[in-house]
Amino acid sequence: MEVVIKQASEDACIAGARIVARLVREKPTAVLGLATGGTPLPLYCELIRMHRDEGLDFSRTTTFNLDEYLGLEPTHPQSYHHFMRENLFDAINIPVENRHIPDGMTSDVPGFCRDYERRIRDAGGIDLQILGIGSDGHIGFNEPVSSFASRTRIKTLAKETLQDNARFFDGDPDKVPRHCITMGIGTIMDARRVLLLAFGESKSRAVAGMTEGPVASVLPASILQHHPDAKILLDNAAASELKRADYYRWVYENKPDWQRDA
Ligand code: F6R
Repeated sequence: MEVVIKQASEDACIAGARIVARLVREKPTAVLGLATGGTPLPLYCELIRMHRDEGLDFSRTTTFNLDEYLGLEPTHPQSYHHFMRENLFDAINIPVENRHIPDGMTSDVPGFCRDYERRIRDAGGIDLQILGIGSDGHIGFNEPVSSFASRTRIKTLAKETLQDNARFFDGDPDKVPRHCITMGIGTIMDARRVLLLAFGESKSRAVAGMTEGPVASVLPASILQHHPDAKILLDNAAASELKRADYYRWVYENKPDWQRDA
């Protein structure tokens, strides 16, 4: 696990976007795992800017989103289909047939989930998975005590997550769908590389537990300690409960230039 602490979330997102851009330039057929929520938005804005100003080409890129609420039409303003179109897809050139997001309206959830796993495998696996983290330590919508071996499946959201996401549903946790389809922790761990972003004080407890606490399913993101190539990009606020923050800063400052933003 490599922990990088930037002054502000915008700096961390620009560093994250550069990593995505380098991969897409080196491997135009790259398979990206994408997250929704507030955290990756500035990263997506920077990818859009790079596409527009620097000709970053996504025409051969494939994407798989982590999750979708069950029961929301793709056109629903709070669906993750809608989020991805609004915040990334409409502004860059990933072909429609290369974009994959779980179907929140499927009538066969287990069959859909098996097929989603098959599609990821057929695409050659995920090269780079972008993740946020819930205040309860979830990744994707794998809530506390999710199996580390889990694959794409239905999950019931925790009350803490309904509360956190109520801001997108008129502030009312009862309006947030209770169920979702999410990639499993095993699915996420199969990605060749993982980039987790976390910003703000509300994430500091989960970030400290994930990074410096024991690996335990009560804090799903802690499994990333076992991932061979996981980078954690934080702002100062999200890093505020890390005991070894000075050490992570020192390591970053003393990296050889070629390794710093790789
Ligand atoms: C979103 C996802 C979630 C979010 C997490 C943080 O696709 O899988 O794990 O990354 O809930 O959400 P924000 O970024 O809104 O704080």
